[in-house]
Amino acid sequence: MQIYKVGGAVRDRLLGKPVTDIDWVVVGATAEEMLAKGFRPVGADFPVFLHPKSGEEYALARTERKSGRGYGGFTFHASPEVTLEEDLIRRDLTINAMAEDDQQNLTDPYHGQRDLDDRILRHVSPAFAEDPLRVLRVARFAARYAELGFKVAHETLELMRQLSESGELEALTAERSWKEISRALMESQPQVFIQVLRDCGALKVLMPEIDALFGVPQPEVHHPEIDSGIHTLSVLEQAALHQQPLTVRWACLLHDLGKGLTPEEEWPRHIAHEHKGLKLIKAVNERFKAPKDCQELALLVGQYHTHGHRALELKASTLLELLQSFDVYRRPQRFEEFIVACEMDARGRKGLEQRSYPQADYLRGAASAARGVAVQPLLERGFKGPELGEALKRERLKALKAYKESASS
Ligand code: CTP
Repeated sequence: MQIYKVGGAVRDRLLGKPVTDIDWVVVGATAEEMLAKGFRPVGADFPVFLHPKSGEEYALARTERKSGRGYGGFTFHASPEVTLEEDLIRRDLTINAMAEDDQQNLTDPYHGQRDLDDRILRHVSPAFAEDPLRVLRVARFAARYAELGFKVAHETLELMRQLSESGELEALTAERSWKEISRALMESQPQVFIQVLRDCGALKVLMPEIDALFGVPQPEVHHPEIDSGIHTLSVLEQAALHQQPLTVRWACLLHDLGKGLTPEEEWPRHIAHEHKGLKLIKAVNERFKAPKDCQELALLVGQYHTHGHRALELKASTLLELLQSFDVYRRPQRFEEFIVACEMDARGRKGLEQRSYPQADYLRGAASAARGVAVQPLLERGFKGPELGEALKRERLKALKAYKESASS
């Protein structure tokens, strides 16, 4: 049997990037031989094994034939006769379809190295269409390598468009899609992920609520970029530039969905878009089974981002309601994430990327004023149950009024 390093490990070494996990392909072996060498099988029918010591993945060279829709819809053909070239041709991109032996000799039948040099993400063969998840993968690689100047090849984008129009994307499971989406959002230019999905028509299928924002104008005074879709991309870009966590990036992506519902005759204003958007945010959250913290923050940012921008004008009672909605007393981190999402929203506007955002510190100050109210003295005064809650609210309101006064003096 011959063993080769394949996929991302070869690509990233040639790009001079750190290699984290290594995938191997085994040519000329049977499953029985692998088991005899102590490899552990990953699944019953799947020709992938884990190395007994390193735990790295070793896959038998295989050809793949599609037998149905969805994740379970693959049949694999692995046998000792399958050659390295036959294995590589069924992979997604040429830059992922190179193999290396233990002497670092490269096998590159589909010119991955040339595409690496030319900064092109190109599919290897029509077998690309065997797995519709690859539409998301290509968009994710585009987001990751945009900083190196990579672009999706014209013919690959065309194939992605055909796949998007074929209805195949709808068959992807929430789990597989979320894995790609969440990884893509954590790349250095996540806005490129959304842009590429839009360019090939996949956004319309996967997240029509975001696609609908493109072409929707906003008032130029607040939004020099005008277009709501462009604004959303810029907010996401800011979130990545400021190295925000996934929760914040997800909330940034979904914060303005309500603007897609505004009747054209009301443009460029978007009255109550914060509230109108909530059902759309909920739908996207549930479609991809996003983790609870992502779901929660997206809904809260959707509902309250305008409050964030108006923080300095809010009455003490409205500030208190805002803080209560976030349960800032038990979840201070979530309120902090709201604040930065609002800041990214304010900066994700053409020409305003460097603006200051005094609302952020003001909100932090308000949160700490309200959190500074101690429960103990109220307990000592005999308050309990719902009355204790009311008393706490009154004290917090007092603290916020004092805070507002001190901040304006
Ligand atoms: N692969 C593929 N189609 C997929 C998933 C994987 O062709 N839907 C192939 C590619 O050759 C890829 C390799 O399997 O390079 C390993 O896949 P994976 O570990 O998911 O990705 P990497 O390319 O290693 O990239 P990353 O750095 O994102 O892990």
